[in-house]
Amino acid sequence: MGRVIVAPSILAADFSRLGDEIHRVEAAGADWIHCDIMDGHFVDNISFGPEIVGRVRGLTSLPLDVHLMIEHADHYVPRFIKAGANSITVHVEPEAKHSVAKTLQQIRDAGCRAGLTLNPETSFDSVEPFLDKIDMLLVMTVHPGFGGQSFRADQMQKVKRARSLNSRIDIEVDGGINAETARISIENGANVLVAGTSIFHATDYAKAIRELRGDPG
Ligand code: DX5
Ligand code: ZN
Repeated sequence: MGRVIVAPSILAADFSRLGDEIHRVEAAGADWIHCDIMDGHFVDNISFGPEIVGRVRGLTSLPLDVHLMIEHADHYVPRFIKAGANSITVHVEPEAKHSVAKTLQQIRDAGCRAGLTLNPETSFDSVEPFLDKIDMLLVMTVHPGFGGQSFRADQMQKVKRARSLNSRIDIEVDGGINAETARISIENGANVLVAGTSIFHATDYAKAIRELRGDPG
């Protein structure tokens, strides 16, 4: 497997200095920027929308990895494409109120990478039929809505199963990812790490990113 990808989640960044935070985390070795979009319906929190993603686009050339924790993702996909998303990940749960197959096709037809994700409570069976229609599977290792939660090690069986079924797609984990849980996730087959708290609450972003990769020193 190639180099582990580290995608800092700006949900945990200091939004009063978002520009500085983006430049700082890029200089620290981030590979992607993870944008956690929350609508207050699909999850019990509200974060930011396409306007902010567009501002982030103007601040960095890093790939923007957009995670839609919203209802009716299909309705909003065009706005995130226009904002400059490189990858858009949607939820498989019925509560997300969209046709998963159609939305994934809509994302790919726009020339954007398509991701699918599932909550800890959701069975892996729900995403299995889509593995050949996506570029990335995001296995949530916390219940979505808030940063700073504890890693759910029970979700590793989903990572392991996805990797055993498909060696092509990226497998991303999101929630409670630090040096220790990153190691566990990589061991089980993940290759993309979303981290908010463990990076943006660190004094040394570069050291935090190196530790996530498992780089010594
Ligand atoms: C949950 C969010 C968080 C965020 C990362 O809805 O998706 O998982 O990205 O949170 P940390 O790294 O602070 O647990
Ligand atoms: Zn996320």
